[in-house]
Amino acid sequence: MPLFNWKEEYSVHIEELDHHHKKFMDILNALYDDCFERDKDLSVGHKIDELIAYTKYHFVAEENFMRYVGYGQISDHLEKHEQFARKLMELKQTSNGNQLELTQELIICLGTWLLQHILEEDKRY
Ligand SMILES: [Fe+2]
Repeated sequence: MPLFNWKEEYSVHIEELDHHHKKFMDILNALYDDCFERDKDLSVGHKIDELIAYTKYHFVAEENFMRYVGYGQISDHLEKHEQFARKLMELKQTSNGNQLELTQELIICLGTWLLQHILEEDKRY
C-alpha cells in the first residue's frame, strides 16, 4: 500500500497539473520505500535529486499557469512554494547525514504538505 494515494478530490481540473501532482506522489512513495532497501544510500540520494528537479519543473509550470490566467494571489502562492523548496533542501541535508528516521519523517511531512497545498492553495487558481 503506497504511503500517499491519489484521490479525485485532489483534482485541480487541469489535466497537466493533476498529472504533475500524481507524479509527485509517485516519487515520494518510491522515496519512502527506498528508505527500507538494502542499498538505500544510493537510491534515496538519487530519488531526492529527482524530487528536487521535478519540484522545480512543476512549480515553474504551475506559476506560469497562474500568470497566464491572471491569478490574483500569486505572490502568496509563490511564498508557499519557496517554503516547500526549503523543506526539500532540509530533506537532502538530512539524508546526506544518513539520518534514516528523520528522512522518513521529512518525506511524510513533505507529502502531507503537498496534499494540503493542493486542497487549500492549488484548487483556488
Ligand atoms: Fe502550488
